[in-house]
Amino acid sequence: MIVENNFVSQLDTYIMFKIRSRAEEIKNDLIAKNRAPISLAMGAPVDMVPDFVIQELQNILTDPKIHTYSIPKGEKYYLDAIQKRMKDRFDVDIDTKTEVFSLIGSKEGIANMIRGLVNPQYTDEEKDIIWIPDPGYASYGEMIKVSGARAYSIPMTKEDNYMPDLEAVYEKFIAEGNDFSKVKAIIANYPNNPLGVTCTFEYMQSMVDFCKKHDVLLMYDNAYCDIYFDEAHKPHSILECAGAKDVAVEFHSFSKPFAMTGWRLGWVCGNAQAIKAFGKLKSSLDTGIFRAIQYAGAKILTSDEGEEYIRNANAKIKVKLENFIKGLNDLGWKNVEMPKTTFYLWIETPARYATDEEFCADLLEKSGLMIVPGTAFGKFGKGYVRLSIVASESDLAEVIARMKADGHTFEK
Ligand SMILES: Cc1ncc(COP(=O)(O)O)c(C=O)c1O
Repeated sequence: MIVENNFVSQLDTYIMFKIRSRAEEIKNDLIAKNRAPISLAMGAPVDMVPDFVIQELQNILTDPKIHTYSIPKGEKYYLDAIQKRMKDRFDVDIDTKTEVFSLIGSKEGIANMIRGLVNPQYTDEEKDIIWIPDPGYASYGEMIKVSGARAYSIPMTKEDNYMPDLEAVYEKFIAEGNDFSKVKAIIANYPNNPLGVTCTFEYMQSMVDFCKKHDVLLMYDNAYCDIYFDEAHKPHSILECAGAKDVAVEFHSFSKPFAMTGWRLGWVCGNAQAIKAFGKLKSSLDTGIFRAIQYAGAKILTSDEGEEYIRNANAKIKVKLENFIKGLNDLGWKNVEMPKTTFYLWIETPARYATDEEFCADLLEKSGLMIVPGTAFGKFGKGYVRLSIVASESDLAEVIARMKADGHTFEK
């Protein structure tokens, strides 16, 4: 029996679930040697979601009208709340009729937009292409592959401060014999997972200008726009750029700022043409998000408590990052920079390991520590690993203590 098409058959288990299932397999042995698994793998904050949101959700659940099918695009109260959030946070005006659509988390939205954009093909020469940051969010490549398209890496390097010159990428792309008319979108992600870096507003404008000049959609993944530690690096919306709505859509998520990864709630907003096409696809594939979830989500977006929660959460993340970096410094990682945004640390793999995977496996098998190899984020991630600093303070201190006790230093 054939149970998967040629694209699904190319997919591997998602890296985070692979790491988790290996930890599960050896859990008893780890516990026996006092090394119960601690995860620094997934970017899933462990704090409690805002109290008042739970209250709002509980209260609305008794409303008999809340339980029926909702509108795929999003209920009016949810779309109005997004409109207010985009205005208050970024001074961006959104037309709720044409420029916004609800998402079951930003991952779903990015995947479905890609699906609706590319024409599936079997051979590499025929495939549509999407440019993605490399290293970048591990799912982009898989989403593109399963849609019958091909990803093209935009190298994210320290030399250009992680703001690659898109015209230079274009020239290289053409010099390699590629056809730009095959490029259906460029994905950009600042603040960036896994690097923890962000970009300047001028660079954002240059991305919009590039996409306008070359007539290509810009998919701006802004999942981390609310994780920052000082006003000077407060992330922008791509829709603040001049002309952005001509070419750009932006993805937002409740997962990271409100520790609501399990709620599966987000939105996409921007270019009306792209939102319309996306809406046609989404309305055929699934029905809207549970109204009660949208209701509670709308409450956070429009309340002062939501902003206060973000401020407090960021203050806590900052302390965790600073303490953890100190711990890493003591272990020999001397050049770890404090990220300006996100809760990720991107650190070098010690030279004694042949691969990043080997280092990650050693940390897990010996010490019960789950981290992600840099190559999971693309070929330019080689030589690095990503640590997600979202665990409790005590778990994070335990990570450093175990690394010290078990000899996981940088130099050795
Ligand atoms: C860059 C980036 N985009 C999107 C997502 C997906 O987030 P969600 O689907 O929970 O909104 C993640 C999750 O880790 C991410 O790192």
